[in-house]
Amino acid sequence: MEHNTLIIGNWKLQPATEKEALALASALNKEIRPHKKITLGYAVPAAFVSSLKKKFPKLSFGAQDVSAHESGAHTGEHSAKMLASVGAQFALIGHSETRARGVTNDMTREAVRLALKEKMMVVLCVGERERDASHAYLRFVADQIKDALATVPKSKMSDVTIAYEPVWAIGSDAARVATPEECLEMVIFIRRTLADMFGKKVAESVRVLYGGSVDEKNGITFLQTGGVNGLLAGRVSLSPKKFATLIRSITL
Ligand code: PGA
Repeated sequence: MEHNTLIIGNWKLQPATEKEALALASALNKEIRPHKKITLGYAVPAAFVSSLKKKFPKLSFGAQDVSAHESGAHTGEHSAKMLASVGAQFALIGHSETRARGVTNDMTREAVRLALKEKMMVVLCVGERERDASHAYLRFVADQIKDALATVPKSKMSDVTIAYEPVWAIGSDAARVATPEECLEMVIFIRRTLADMFGKKVAESVRVLYGGSVDEKNGITFLQTGGVNGLLAGRVSLSPKKFATLIRSITL
């Protein structure tokens, strides 16, 4: 199955207020014209999902994390049902910054299950902390995928996207951006892992994204030679002009 390109902007813990979030969405909306080649979504702070969705019903907003629990004594968390009820259409699950706070592979499995139950699209984030000469990082990523998707039936895999985000390439203190060749190697490996679990057809149809220091210049190279079907972009998505330049580079 041929996909159009999926681009997700991850706002992380930004902007500071609801007013600024609405202004950012408005600026992005002005700069970026809908294009049939692109599906666009914004992973925004949970506090802003409801007002963003009301003000911009045509844009797609998602959550940055989903609780592994449906309810109960889990102070500070947001359940899939809560997020879906305020308009989140998708959710990042297992982002490295949430894993760094203690989210385990077992927790991602529960979060994936609950998000799919609420009919949210799941963007499962995987990626190694470092690359070692003996290629243990491949196994590390395979385990993240196998654990998170262990309870997902084949029929639900059309609602799952995998985002490959090497931890060493993420954020302002990233060591460097991955090369398209490094990305391609991992994408092939991810599809092989998916083929073992769900068969070749599913493995070929699942979208795989790259994330980690994507900017308005390098984004296109991952799509052209990195083997991915889209991008998960952090910092650049907070700059409407740069984000629009990135999107334009893909539609040309
Ligand atoms: P970055 O973040 O583009 O700012 O490196 C990507 C991400 O963490 O999703």
